[in-house]
Amino acid sequence: MGKLQDKVAVITGGASGIGAATARLFISEGAKVVLVDLNEEKGKAFEEELKALNAEVLFVKANITSEEEVINVFKTAVETFGNVDVVFNNAGIGRVHPTHDLEYSEWRNTVNVDLDGVFLVAREAIREMLKSGGGSIINTASMYGWVGSPGSAAYNAAKGGVVNLTRSLALEYAEQNIRVNALCPGFIDTPIIPEESKQTLAAMTPMKRLGKAEEMAKAVVFMASDDSSFMTGNSIIVDGGYTAQ
Ligand SMILES: NC(=O)c1ccc[n+]([C@@H]2O[C@H](COP(=O)([O-])OP(=O)(O)OC[C@H]3O[C@@H](n4cnc5c(N)ncnc54)[C@H](O)[C@@H]3O)[C@@H](O)[C@H]2O)c1
Repeated sequence: MGKLQDKVAVITGGASGIGAATARLFISEGAKVVLVDLNEEKGKAFEEELKALNAEVLFVKANITSEEEVINVFKTAVETFGNVDVVFNNAGIGRVHPTHDLEYSEWRNTVNVDLDGVFLVAREAIREMLKSGGGSIINTASMYGWVGSPGSAAYNAAKGGVVNLTRSLALEYAEQNIRVNALCPGFIDTPIIPEESKQTLAAMTPMKRLGKAEEMAKAVVFMASDDSSFMTGNSIIVDGGYTAQ
């Protein structure tokens, strides 16, 4: 029996990086997975790859900043698999830009995806979980939800927002058996990190390497499964020691 045997999991940003690695581990732990991503080509290719391994998986193209599309994701998930037990609320974007040169439109776009989108997905998750009797939501924030850094004001503000959104939702729905926690990664080797920055970011990390998406997935399985049954409103920071400095 897997740790997520027969559970239905929705994973946003499921076509790439941390979301894709988590989809693989969820499936190996027995889950049925709904992959959600803006990138249809990557999402469909990954769906086919997982289906060839006999996984119960469905790709749904959606932009998490669209209320209508997020509502459709959950409608499709329930129509296909019956309910939703786990939501890995993980899609996000990140850009580095000095604040004095930051256009308001770019600020809005970052906060729209990294905070508003997380709210929209969490709200639909909660609506479904209230009907089915509970579940586990894991929001992807960042170590930059806990500490600051130069040149990432919008991203860091949004991720700090996700950390406190997580606490607030956890308190609001604790009695309804809905647990809400956050994953706070350090620098992880995924396509979100430009190739030319990788060496510098590894050098900034006490363990002197980037993290692997698979190392994030293990923390997500812990928060998704009954292994963390008394944990809610909290974060797991997996950052090779960065925030200990
Ligand atoms: N890699 C890191 O160093 C790092 C560090 C801290 C936090 N994070 C967070 O982890 C999460 C996953 O990032 P990743 O590293 O796997 O990057 P990634 O770029 O490999 O994956 C992100 C996925 O999200 C999708 N996406 C982006 N905007 C979307 C939208 N509006 N609607 C639907 N899908 C959308 C992308 O198409 C992509 O497939 C993000 O929230 C990111 O901020 C990453």
